[in-house]
Amino acid sequence: MTVSREQFGSRLGFILAAAGSAVGIGNLVGFPVAAAKNGGGAFLLIYALFVFLVCLPIMMAELSVGRHAQKDPLGAYRDLSDKSVLWSLAGWLVLITPYMIAIFYMVITVWLFGFVYEAVTGNLDQLAGPDYFNQFINSNAVFVYFAIVAAVVNIILVGGVKEGIERAAKIMMPLLFVMLIGLVIFVLTLDNAFAGVRYYLVPDFSKINASVINGALSQAFFSLSLGMGIMITYGSYMRRGDSISNSAKFVAMTDTAVAFSAGLMILPAIFAFNPLTNTADLSDSSIGLIFTFLPKIFLALQATIGYFGASAVASLFFLLVLFAAITSLVSITEVPAASLVTGKGYSRPKALLLLSLSMAVISIACILSFGRVGFLTEFASYAGQSKSIFDVIIDVFYDTILPLNGLLVCLFVIYRWKKHNFHVELEHSDLSYRGSVVERYIDFSLGTFIPLILALVFINTVALKYFGFSFVG
Ligand code: PHE
Repeated sequence: MTVSREQFGSRLGFILAAAGSAVGIGNLVGFPVAAAKNGGGAFLLIYALFVFLVCLPIMMAELSVGRHAQKDPLGAYRDLSDKSVLWSLAGWLVLITPYMIAIFYMVITVWLFGFVYEAVTGNLDQLAGPDYFNQFINSNAVFVYFAIVAAVVNIILVGGVKEGIERAAKIMMPLLFVMLIGLVIFVLTLDNAFAGVRYYLVPDFSKINASVINGALSQAFFSLSLGMGIMITYGSYMRRGDSISNSAKFVAMTDTAVAFSAGLMILPAIFAFNPLTNTADLSDSSIGLIFTFLPKIFLALQATIGYFGASAVASLFFLLVLFAAITSLVSITEVPAASLVTGKGYSRPKALLLLSLSMAVISIACILSFGRVGFLTEFASYAGQSKSIFDVIIDVFYDTILPLNGLLVCLFVIYRWKKHNFHVELEHSDLSYRGSVVERYIDFSLGTFIPLILALVFINTVALKYFGFSFVG
């Protein structure tokens, strides 16, 4: 098909859209808690090394594949491998993964929307109630919120790359930065805030072990939106003349800066609430933290800034996370949408309608899997645990397949598409890249230790998740 492909209108537009994808719930909540629990500054250091030494080369690989092929992930894998059946399978995997991850991310975004609504309408006291979250996720209001969030995502996407995705990112990302900075400044003025900052930043290397290292890598990988076909798809909309390596660096830096700043917001807030907080008691799951723990912290602010002030802070926080989640959701839904548009020749509205309907069915199954429908609630059982369909999607696609997709893209670029072609794509828009240290580093790492690390993460996850067997103690 030779229909000319849509493009981002500017380099900044691409960077904001890709950063919009990368900045999500993982940065704003997952990262700060992981850092606080796992050695503070020591975790930060390891995380930063993973971002720049492991994830950035993969991001550049994904962007190059997309821009060179001018296709969605499935089309790109097919075209650049001369239609090899095996690599087409890898392409399918990179198509199904975002489809399924979009579903679980959608459910969480819907909850966020509900929490924004409740906080804005003055119901923070209820949000902070002991069993509120469990009632909320099983209430019928969730279906209304679902329809609203799905409509917003589709309205953005139907506008296309420049008028939809890029425009939304140009509005939402600056607002997100302002909200984040405002909240950080506010939280740092609270009593005991600095106890939280200390906990967050002072390194404790004794906490670092193999599973923390594994967690830091998974966090970095997810945070940069890798392994989901997003960067391949967005790469296919990049202009030929824009430097992939510089743009990717910007995206990685923005993503990391937001994650770091989020820590300066969340931990001081927790310590201001209770200076004796032991981070070991914090829930591992971002979901538990956002929806059950943080509302209590916001409500406690009423002692200093009144109920209205506390509600304003809570509203701002949930809105911040909602914005981050929506720009991520847009990027991930664009992957299967692009496949239908490029691969099947559907119009955008038709592709989106088809996707929305089919995704709604599984999303609703997830919404019903928190106790309402028995078979969806106890959907499977492995490693001695009963799992809902929502849990299974997270375990299979987020925890297991993501690193596998990362591994496959490295092998694909280096051994099938070939290193040489990859470098040509990068050099093409960036003369200073040729012969640079970065080029030499990527040349070596992407075909050797990066896939090796991802293979180890994959094997370890499979052993642990499905067989309850841990290699790393
Ligand atoms: N980078 C996102 C985050 O940190 C991950 C993500 C991207 C999830 C796109 C879904 C869709 O939350």
